[in-house]
Amino acid sequence: MNRLMLSIAAACFLVSLIAVTAGAEIFGDYVGYTACAECHSDIVEGWKSTPHANAFEDLKRQGEEKQSVPGCVRCHVVGMDEDGGFIDMELTPELRDVQCEACHGPGRAHVESQDSKDILGKPGEDACRVCHTEGQDKNFDYKAKSRLVHGEK
Ligand code: HEC
Ligand code: HEC
Ligand code: HEC
Ligand code: HEC
Repeated sequence: MNRLMLSIAAACFLVSLIAVTAGAEIFGDYVGYTACAECHSDIVEGWKSTPHANAFEDLKRQGEEKQSVPGCVRCHVVGMDEDGGFIDMELTPELRDVQCEACHGPGRAHVESQDSKDILGKPGEDACRVCHTEGQDKNFDYKAKSRLVHGEK
């Protein structure tokens, strides 16, 4: 290979690296609930009947503009302050509402491996308290409420 060919090959490699890195920012570790449906369809259907599945739309009850106030949106979407989580409705509409990954953590690795050690199997009270804070939900009762997260069974 001559020198020109080598530098073209090197340039191509660099460009592909940049493309991969850029992709990782948008398509991060959060995949959205539709990626879970293939294997957990009953739970997905049950979850859809809960208030969590409507949490983004419900922001409007206190005014349409609330859907673009970060201080409100934060607890009504998936992973807003996390890498690869909700940014806004233009970039990440599929991560609106309080979905599976808001409690179970980012799901990409588990979707690929189907291994239970790649996902949080039993989100504890601390997982809820990120949003059900003292200020927001004073009488939050983990034991009673955690039975309702996948819908009534
Ligand atoms: C391709 C199939 C598949 C997909 C897609 C999938 N899972 Fe799973 N999931 C499994 C299997 C299989 C198990 C059981 C693994 C075991 O018993 O070791 C499991 C187990 C789990 C568990 C229980 C883990 C435990 O410790 O008991 C949770 C929680 C879970 N999945 C959540 C999710 C979420 C959230 C998504 C979407 C982001 C998802 N899964 C997508 C196949 C899948
Ligand atoms: C710290 C997390 C958090 C923040 C920030 C937050 N919410 Fe919520 N929101 C919750 C939780 C948890 C619930 C459910 C428990 C409850 O009803 O108090 C809820 C419930 C709601 C509901 C449904 C209650 C009903 O009418 O049935 C609306 C509407 C709402 N929030 C709007 C807002 C608006 C508007 C803002 C910004 C001013 C906001 N939220 C900020 C966590 C939060
Ligand atoms: C609001 C929090 C929350 C949301 C949202 C949520 N889960 Fe769970 N999930 C839990 C908790 C808590 C448990 C443990 C229940 C127990 O064993 O007491 C659990 C258990 C599980 C399990 C293992 C036990 C079982 O019931 O089979 C699977 C699988 C699972 N969730 C999948 C999902 C999927 C898929 C979604 C989205 C459609 C989802 N979860 C949404 C909190 C949540
Ligand atoms: C990302 C933020 C977030 C997390 C994490 C979260 N919730 Fe919620 N939860 C909300 C919001 C927002 C609502 C209100 C939805 C609405 O009415 O639009 C809500 C509503 C509920 C409701 C229905 C209203 C009520 O108070 O009865 C239950 C039950 C509930 N959450 C249980 C849980 C449990 C249990 C966990 C942890 C395993 C959890 N949530 C984790 C944000 C969250």
